[in-house]
Amino acid sequence: MYLTVTNATKHYGSFRALNDVSISIEKGEFVCLLGPSGCGKTSLLRIIAGLADLDEGDVQLNGKSLLKISARKRDFGIVFQSYSLFPNMTVAENIGYGLKIRKIPADQISARVSELLDIIKLPQFADKIPGQLSGGQQQRVALARAIAVNPRVLLLDEPLSALDAQVRGELRDEIHQLQRSLGIPTLMVTHDQEEALALADKIICMNQGVVVQSGTPHELYHKPATRFVATFMGTSNLISTQKIKSIMPELLSTRPGGDDDQYDACIRPESIRIEANPKGEASIVSIGFLGNLSKIKLASPLGNLIVEVHGATDLKEKQKVSLDIAPADCIWVENDVAGIAE
Ligand SMILES: Nc1ncnc2c1ncn2[C@@H]1O[C@H](COP(=O)(O)OP(=O)(O)OP(=O)(O)O)[C@@H](O)[C@H]1O
Ligand SMILES: [Mg+2]
Repeated sequence: MYLTVTNATKHYGSFRALNDVSISIEKGEFVCLLGPSGCGKTSLLRIIAGLADLDEGDVQLNGKSLLKISARKRDFGIVFQSYSLFPNMTVAENIGYGLKIRKIPADQISARVSELLDIIKLPQFADKIPGQLSGGQQQRVALARAIAVNPRVLLLDEPLSALDAQVRGELRDEIHQLQRSLGIPTLMVTHDQEEALALADKIICMNQGVVVQSGTPHELYHKPATRFVATFMGTSNLISTQKIKSIMPELLSTRPGGDDDQYDACIRPESIRIEANPKGEASIVSIGFLGNLSKIKLASPLGNLIVEVHGATDLKEKQKVSLDIAPADCIWVENDVAGIAE
């Protein structure tokens, strides 16, 4: 483990923002910290960066505690959610800032700055000031400033959230490539599950100051541990054990046991196959065509279901359909409904 946070607890007054949080990042790994607004993501990032103190717990790099090391001495690169460039400095001065305060000779700084300007594809912007740049360009500069000093860890707090969808997608891919080519261990905060699925080697899913589950994007999508994770990572149909028992008992074969209210079934929209059938148990409420897929809402004895099929569909609203769900596609998730933040 390269960077670890162990048993971190943080209070603001009597409010506990982080509750016994432990996470780790390996060398070269891209980790996404995912969770709803207010769950403690920025608090955790600030603690790792050395910008805030812990009440309990430790932060270690290569097995050595960082708690007594100032933010600057940690040598971490940080990009915040809102553009945090120095408004009166040029782009080049912004990018070279970390090198300048480390007393690197001017010719080396200017060589490094032009190298970085090429990397972020803004070679002609060296002498502009941040106010003359678009949001996406400013975040590119913030990224260049963060990596200029060859940081030991890159910390990104929702660097894309202020950007429109297209710029966001482009910059997301660029951050991905850049991280892969430089190999800097990266922790990126996001509350966008698609972003996390696309970028991360590992996703850490948080809710209300607690780590709920961590694993690969594949694990979190296909094996969510709880209702919260299932709901937060993609679309899911969540059905109580009671209902499954009375309507489709064959699905119970994969259930881990326990009380009825301990586990619910999570069935992903792409795992439900439907077929037009006048005697079918379900009927189509609505069909949304989204280009690459169609999202079909059904009324069924299992409750309202969302089904996704590739491309367009010949099915029509109000049509009766039969349902086919494989027991193996029924993921049993802990019913943590009390812990789900609204
Ligand atoms: N300085 C502070 N004083 C008091 N409460 C705070 C402070 N900073 C954060 N909080 C509270 O702690 C909780 C966690 O805040 P944090 O900023 O870590 O959330 P977040 O997961 O980053 O949310 P978002 O996605 O909205 O940025 C929130 O309920 C917030 O109101
Ligand atoms: Mg935040």
